[in-house]
Amino acid sequence: MAHVAQEKWSSGTAFLLAAIGSAVGLGNIYRFPYVVGENGGGAFVLLYLGIVIVFGIPLVMTELTIGRRKQVPPITAYTQLSDGKKSQPFWKFVGFSSVLTPLGILGFYFVIAGWTLNYVYSIITGKLSNLVEGQTQQVFADLTSSPGTLIFWMTLSLAITAFIISRGIKAGLEKAVNILMPMLFLILVLLVIYSAFNGGMAETFEFMFTPDFDKINMKTLLEATGQAFFSLSLGSATMLVYGSYLPKDTSIPKLACGVAFADTFVALIAGFAIFPIIFANGLELDSGPNLVFVTLPVIFDQMPFGQVFGILFFLLLAFAAITSTISLFEPAVSNLEERGIFSRKKASLVVGTGLWCLAALSALSMNVLSDVRLLTFNDTVADKNFMDLLEYMSANGMMLVNALFAAIFLGYIVHRKDALEELGLGDSLLFKFWRGIIKVVVPIVIGYLLIDFLGYGFI
Ligand code: TRP
Repeated sequence: MAHVAQEKWSSGTAFLLAAIGSAVGLGNIYRFPYVVGENGGGAFVLLYLGIVIVFGIPLVMTELTIGRRKQVPPITAYTQLSDGKKSQPFWKFVGFSSVLTPLGILGFYFVIAGWTLNYVYSIITGKLSNLVEGQTQQVFADLTSSPGTLIFWMTLSLAITAFIISRGIKAGLEKAVNILMPMLFLILVLLVIYSAFNGGMAETFEFMFTPDFDKINMKTLLEATGQAFFSLSLGSATMLVYGSYLPKDTSIPKLACGVAFADTFVALIAGFAIFPIIFANGLELDSGPNLVFVTLPVIFDQMPFGQVFGILFFLLLAFAAITSTISLFEPAVSNLEERGIFSRKKASLVVGTGLWCLAALSALSMNVLSDVRLLTFNDTVADKNFMDLLEYMSANGMMLVNALFAAIFLGYIVHRKDALEELGLGDSLLFKFWRGIIKVVVPIVIGYLLIDFLGYGFI
């Protein structure tokens, strides 16, 4: 097999920007606020923070370590690191599964990324102006019921991503995050300032940071863990691949903390951009997925300079989404390129075409195919259309499986020495603590969540 040498990030900072770009996405700005809203605020936030610290950071370290050890794409990394073990074919399969999972995620993520681009356009063209009560609901319903419009905007988000990927690590990924990430932070800060002047900041503080422990149960734990894994881009080949491009002289523990901190910070700040204006307008926070695409546009329509801030808000979402889709797209391309199967450009085209079909099916499952059910034998999934099913399987099921096996792999299969050298913590208490978490705590917790996922849980 003709292995092609991999490009590397130009520095630790370049990696950090790209990895934060991957982590910060629709998960932070679209999903986190509505999940917090649905789960009653403070207690959920506290639980979420705990999960990020206890499992999130150690798992980011784990995936980066597996990636950087051999500096090769995931399938090869799993194969090489299990060399000489009887279980090698199984680990190769785990590598394969972690490359497939992000493709499943992209199958629905591109559709939502398309919504954000469509909203920027709709606000600019005045389609979301001078609305009467209930009309934004209609605008959103018009969008999701129109196959052509959905597919058009989905295709645009896919094309932008494929174009960036085709240009390679330095000229594509790094350049894109160098432009998009500073803009993203700038817009976020502007929005928070805007909210501070126009909204209910005090109520937001109270809502986000006053825990009501009655609201915590096994379901919230499951939800918070899933949210944290998704937000940190865990359980797929993203961190493995970004780790494989990481120069050897950078510190994985420090970078992992940096990514987790920035990701969590942005999720919280997104709350501070959105909640105050919702409180100030006397609206409820528990509107679920409608929060961003239905509730917020009503408010933007009525507020001073609302149109400008509406455009900025949806641009922010679009930028955040694109820096994440890049990281979900890259693993498959990296693999095909390294194996000498396709050039980077051809690989981007081939993967892009396959993904287009998947995302088009998702788009159609919101309208013409909305009655089609693929799996009917299990109660949990029986009522899910294609897009919801794809989300459930990839972003819940497969992600947990991959994260579990990554932890078991590094904890039990790979030599202790490999992790010791890669993490650079010495044989310290911190190193032992990390190992204990991935060898014992992670398997127990994810194992339990998976039992629940399969529908045999006690929750
Ligand atoms: N973390 C991103 C978000 O919050 C999505 C994402 C990018 C992702 N890469 C991933 C999720 C890998 C799971 C696995 O929107």
